[in-house]
Amino acid sequence: MIRVRHATPDDVGAVCAIMAAALPAVRPGDYLPDPPEFVEAHIATPEGFTLLAEDEEWPVGFLLVAFPGPGSDNLGRDIGLPVDRLAQVAQMESVAVAPGWWGRGLQRRLLRAAEPLARRRGSEVALCTVAPTNVHSLGNFAALGYRVMARKPMYGGFDRLILAKRLDTG
Ligand SMILES: CC(C)(COP(=O)(O)OP(=O)(O)OC[C@H]1O[C@@H](n2cnc3c(N)ncnc32)[C@H](O)[C@@H]1OP(=O)(O)O)[C@@H](O)C(=O)NCCC(=O)NCCS
Repeated sequence: MIRVRHATPDDVGAVCAIMAAALPAVRPGDYLPDPPEFVEAHIATPEGFTLLAEDEEWPVGFLLVAFPGPGSDNLGRDIGLPVDRLAQVAQMESVAVAPGWWGRGLQRRLLRAAEPLARRRGSEVALCTVAPTNVHSLGNFAALGYRVMARKPMYGGFDRLILAKRLDTG
């Protein structure tokens, strides 16, 4: 049975192992893994959180969520979000599932778990980037209500769609 939990500093290696396993299984440029130092800093920062999908033995998927605030990396700037709304942005920064666990809806499960957590932290809009050729990730974001807002070269020249979803204010 898969459960979703918050990552701790002890999980840096597991997150990086999932990144490394997923990378060669997708088209070049569709997914860009982060270095361990970035993952370590992300798990530690209060400006975001990291969720793990874990079976009985080990983590098999992860999602990094960031609250970029007024930072230059806030994707809200790329879709013309007013400056006074940048603080309401949650960014789905990185998500991957170990290839042996594909096809079980874990990306959607991680996103569904993260959205209310982000909402509780004051986020009203969720943003992410996806390669136009990454059909599985695009399909999952679309199924959860994310809509394409822009397309531009990013991350060293790779084209990315920027997607947005208004988080339920319930
Ligand atoms: C994108 C990703 C997280 C989706 O994984 P997932 O949650 O297992 O996806 P789903 O459960 O929706 O799988 C749906 C179907 O697509 C297949 N599938 C999922 N990702 C696939 C991929 N990259 N290549 C080929 N098939 C894939 C699944 O096996 C499943 O097939 P089925 O319906 O015949 O069983 C996963 O492909 C991955 O880790 N990719 C590498 C990292 C990445 O691209 N991250 C997103 C960056 S925006």
